[in-house]
Amino acid sequence: MNPLFEGFEGIIAPDGPEAKLIEKLDLSCLPRHIAIIMDGNGRWAGLRRLPRIEGHRAGVKAVKAVVEYAARLTLPVLTLYAFSSENWKRPQREVNTLWQLLKRYLRSDLGTLQNNNIRFDTIGRIPELPPTVQEQLLHVIRETSSNTGMRLFLALSYSGRTELVDAFNQLLASGHRAPIRARDIET
Ligand code: FPP
Repeated sequence: MNPLFEGFEGIIAPDGPEAKLIEKLDLSCLPRHIAIIMDGNGRWAGLRRLPRIEGHRAGVKAVKAVVEYAARLTLPVLTLYAFSSENWKRPQREVNTLWQLLKRYLRSDLGTLQNNNIRFDTIGRIPELPPTVQEQLLHVIRETSSNTGMRLFLALSYSGRTELVDAFNQLLASGHRAPIRARDIET
């Protein structure tokens, strides 16, 4: 059996279509960075007449498999866009449940990150998150900071607009004065 499939027997059937696709992969031509927008949890649950939370639980299960498998394929960087600025408008109960799921994932999968030499980090407006979530994120960032394999970024409380605003504010805070030149942005 292809060693890439070990531990994934329940997810990738050794003679199924995914296994055949993986056999054809040229690992020397992998992209340097793959970003995934975590979307469709609600629709997944709706199609099965399940509560939305079941869709989020299934989403976490998919995250676990994608993260470990991407590291095994030696992908250099994986970014998961998990919770957008827009998502704050969801019912408070759903938002709270998402933070519970995230904390549980960080607790349960730190070992998987370590075993696969994955270095974890975040992007987005982390100070907007509940303090207990921030603490857990910081713990995993610290614990994995000397890992040298795949870099995993979790985007939380993100939006295209806030990313640009925050990047320019950081640039100005680092001592650059307007007008900002192209080379200030590149470095
Ligand atoms: C999008 O599906 C999914 C989300 C907004 C939730 C993402 C999950 C978390 C933040 C919790 C755990 C995260 C990790 C990385 C373990 P949707 O509800 O928008 O579904 P829809 O598009 O079908 O409405």
